[in-house]
Amino acid sequence: MNRLKGKTAVVTAAGQGIGRRTAEMFVAEGAEVWALDLNAELLADLEGQDGLNAVGLNVLDRNALSELATRTGPVDVLFNGVGMVHVGDIMNCTDDEFEAALRVNVISMFGVIKAFLPGMLESGNGSIINMSSVQSSVRGFPQRFAYATSKAAVIGLTKSVAADYANQGIRCNAICPSAVDTPSMRQRIDAMPDPAQAMADFSARQPVGRMGTPEDIASLAVYLASEESSYMTGSTVIIDGGAVN
Ligand SMILES: NC(=O)c1ccc[n+]([C@@H]2O[C@H](COP(=O)([O-])OP(=O)(O)OC[C@H]3O[C@@H](n4cnc5c(N)ncnc54)[C@H](O)[C@@H]3O)[C@@H](O)[C@H]2O)c1
Repeated sequence: MNRLKGKTAVVTAAGQGIGRRTAEMFVAEGAEVWALDLNAELLADLEGQDGLNAVGLNVLDRNALSELATRTGPVDVLFNGVGMVHVGDIMNCTDDEFEAALRVNVISMFGVIKAFLPGMLESGNGSIINMSSVQSSVRGFPQRFAYATSKAAVIGLTKSVAADYANQGIRCNAICPSAVDTPSMRQRIDAMPDPAQAMADFSARQPVGRMGTPEDIASLAVYLASEESSYMTGSTVIIDGGAVN
């Protein structure tokens, strides 16, 4: 309790899955949280909860981001959760699909960081946490060409921001999970020819025998947001049940 007391955090993709659990755990640890999601309906039950400000917003909308940064004032923590999965290899990925993956998964983080970093620099303190994946420069997986390319770019972005601002009190780290049981993961599993078998296969991919939970990832995000991790910056933290060991 109170590991984030006195901190203000922005959490994107807070409507469901990893972002939702992260927003909830940040609040439980004493932070004031601005919970953002494109789908405002998913935020409806957060509205009005103590410590939570729910905002329906597209992270690709730079004007909306700069208006929000004016409303929030300087924040201490930025959790960049938005990501989408394109399934396929290079030959069945269209130009539009590739560009969409880069736009949603990387260019969105570029814009969100540009909106909130000036406030962090003003206060000389900040922790930026970017959702990457083990499907990235950590390791290639079949049928994840666009996704892995974009998530590798998230790692480059993370390390660059970390290097540029380490001496100004700003930290920037990336989280690289393997399979996590979230609504979008369930959708991908349900779309497979044999969902029960797919579920078993996704679980077996981790030597621990299960997929991660949103709480597994949110617990790491709390650590990276807190002063407990003040010596960590530019790290790509693999959290994967031993999958890429
Ligand atoms: N679930 C996994 O197995 C897994 C594994 C590794 C990494 N990740 C990464 O973790 C992050 C969260 O994954 P998840 O499975 O919890 O997500 P999810 O797909 O279940 O939820 C994503 C949320 O983001 C919101 N969103 C999408 N586009 C947006 C936009 N332009 N602006 C604002 N909000 C937008 C959606 O409305 C949704 O509520 C993603 O970056 C994902 O790539 C997930």
